[in-house]
Amino acid sequence: MRIGIVGVGTVGSGVIEIIEERQELWKNQGINLEIVALAAKSMDELVGFEGKDYKLCTDVNEIIADPSIDVFVELVGGYELPKQWIKTALENGKHVVTANKALIAKHGAELFPLAKEKSLQILFEAAVGGGIPIIRTLQEGMTGNTVEHLSCIINGTCNYILSRMTREGISYPDVLAEAQKLGYAEADPTFDVEGIDSAHKLAILASLSSGTFVDFEKIHVSGISQISATDIEFAQEFGCVIKLLGIYSRQGDRVDARVHACFVPEDHLLASINGVLNGVYLEGDNLGPALQTGAGAGKLPTASAVVADLAFLARSQNRIPIPMDCFNENNTADLVPINELKTRYYFRFTTKDARGVLASITSILSKNEISIESIVQKNVKDPHKVSVVVITEKVLESNVAQALREIDALEAVTEPSRTIRFL
Ligand code: NDP
Ligand code: HSE
Repeated sequence: MRIGIVGVGTVGSGVIEIIEERQELWKNQGINLEIVALAAKSMDELVGFEGKDYKLCTDVNEIIADPSIDVFVELVGGYELPKQWIKTALENGKHVVTANKALIAKHGAELFPLAKEKSLQILFEAAVGGGIPIIRTLQEGMTGNTVEHLSCIINGTCNYILSRMTREGISYPDVLAEAQKLGYAEADPTFDVEGIDSAHKLAILASLSSGTFVDFEKIHVSGISQISATDIEFAQEFGCVIKLLGIYSRQGDRVDARVHACFVPEDHLLASINGVLNGVYLEGDNLGPALQTGAGAGKLPTASAVVADLAFLARSQNRIPIPMDCFNENNTADLVPINELKTRYYFRFTTKDARGVLASITSILSKNEISIESIVQKNVKDPHKVSVVVITEKVLESNVAQALREIDALEAVTEPSRTIRFL
């Protein structure tokens, strides 16, 4: 199987390293992979690959147009350019392997029908969960199940940030800079910290699980940039850790899919998944609960998933392609609107140290049918910054939104309220 790769950055260089190291070993296992060509933005990036019998180029079309290449491997990232490259590669009869979750989530519904028409495959194991084989698990391993529920940590950068803030008290900007240095973060790290990367990945998992197209732009998303050391300390007081989760569940004919930070009880399986590790907790109707965990980002873990796709193609050239009708706009999921959600909440209000503030807050909560499970007021070095924390019983999201608008308008409330849902 002759391979052309575009993008020799973190993941691309890892893929080349693994193939070069294992190529000979694989020949006895029916996996015959040969790197033919590499493309980068400039020849400078390709200097390290000189003298290796690879065609080196700065024009991706030299790979896409080469009839001797069987598989086009896209490891650049972004939405529009890769879409055009992949469409042309499919038109030219090439299978595609990519780690680009943004592309699959945004343009999958255009690309998979084209691949089907051409009897070609687009494989994307590395797009969700880094090195964890969660895509093949959902496509093949769960065939005897309906996936009823998923709760997943699917952004390594955010998990790394939250874990280090929790365990070592390191500040948010410092840990983010480290995650970037380690090659975990996206080119634009707001994709990570604002939950967009997790939404791309959840849209893919939810589409595969529901068999219907879940449009990532319709998923409720909020990230971790507003989570403070104070919230982390309160979570610990309530026996929880804070995680950014993608959550999917089937609700009758509808699909609940959302990404946001959660209070996760310390004894939940996901609570102990720390650092760059990702974790996908799922429930199948026949399997029951299961957990997959492993490195969710980084050079070699991610590259190993790309290589698994290449090996799969090399071993199964005459196999019927996996049907991907869940990426089709004629088969769109009906999403449950976020304001219909019922769950428990953590609220943190910042108020003046004034008589009657607590009474005003609790009366607004009560008027909006929000039952309080516990309430804590913490003092008080600064009389303008008293933290009032409320944990609610299960309440309706639309009521929460209304109550918070009213509370934030109180004269005694000095900062916008913070809210985190419970898992
Ligand atoms: P990098 O930025 O490390 O690598 C991308 C490479 O592509 C860079 O060398 C970049 O060059 C090059 N490039 C940019 N534009 C072009 C172009 N027009 N033609 C040829 N080369 C180009 O990114 P990663 O390796 O981290 O990520 C690659 C993909 O893998 C992304 O889709 C990402 O989301 C995904 N991914 C990454 C993971 C990780 O842990 N890093 C994990 C899972 C998925 P330059 O730097 O000069 O712009
Ligand atoms: N930026 C992503 C993360 C890379 O941190 O999880 C893996 O998809």
